[in-house]
Amino acid sequence: MANAQPVRIVRHGVVDSTSERAFAELAAGRARHGDVHVAAAQTKGRGRLGRNWHSPAGEGLFASFVLRPERAWNPAALTIALGLATLDAVRALGLDGASLKWPNDVVVRGAKLAGVLAETRDLDPRNPAYVAGIGINVRQRAFPPELCAERPVTSLALCGIEATVEDALRELVEALPRRCAEIEEDVGRLEADFLRAAGLERGHVRVEVASGTITGVLARFSVAHGIAVRREAEPEARFALEHVRGLVAV
Ligand code: BTN
Repeated sequence: MANAQPVRIVRHGVVDSTSERAFAELAAGRARHGDVHVAAAQTKGRGRLGRNWHSPAGEGLFASFVLRPERAWNPAALTIALGLATLDAVRALGLDGASLKWPNDVVVRGAKLAGVLAETRDLDPRNPAYVAGIGINVRQRAFPPELCAERPVTSLALCGIEATVEDALRELVEALPRRCAEIEEDVGRLEADFLRAAGLERGHVRVEVASGTITGVLARFSVAHGIAVRREAEPEARFALEHVRGLVAV
């Protein structure tokens, strides 16, 4: 991790949300960089965009990492680093064919396998702290119909990988510090690996922003400077990454 301290794994039984537990420890002044809160099950697992994260006992990895770098991180770099770390972890378990979907869903043939929720509360740039909540579907053989109605979902087991939740945790604890170090040391690698992992390196993309959808050639992808899309007979379109809602290859 950014400041080298041993990883502490804090194990919970059934909790509301591992990210909530991580924030509680931060608020109490007890949280160290690299702490990982892991639960057997969550009753209020949080997903992105206000969604719930289905968290049945023993079936998935529900982990929240406390990240306390010395200097605040670029939010887009953190978003990409966490997605890549999750992808690295499932690849290390033997899964081929997984990719990233903007911003950091891990998907297999369009079905969601894992998700990431990076959060801060009252970010103090002099003492930054983030909670990176990561959920990986590990052993599920079926999902509730209401979840499947929202979007296709999958698990490592359904992809033919007989890993345990503990295996997934081990690989994530291994991958995440490496990717977080790249935020400070090699952001170009994060950008290039993200483009490859999301199948965007060929360049033709569709970008979704609040004002609509733009199609063209991805001329720039930079966590510092955002994206630029070249279009025929129209000015180049430029967006900061935090304004990008969707980004897919076409
Ligand atoms: C997403 O919607 O894709 C993000 C899902 C993040 C789920 C994880 S599970 C561990 C941590 N605790 C939570 O309440 N949410 C995250």
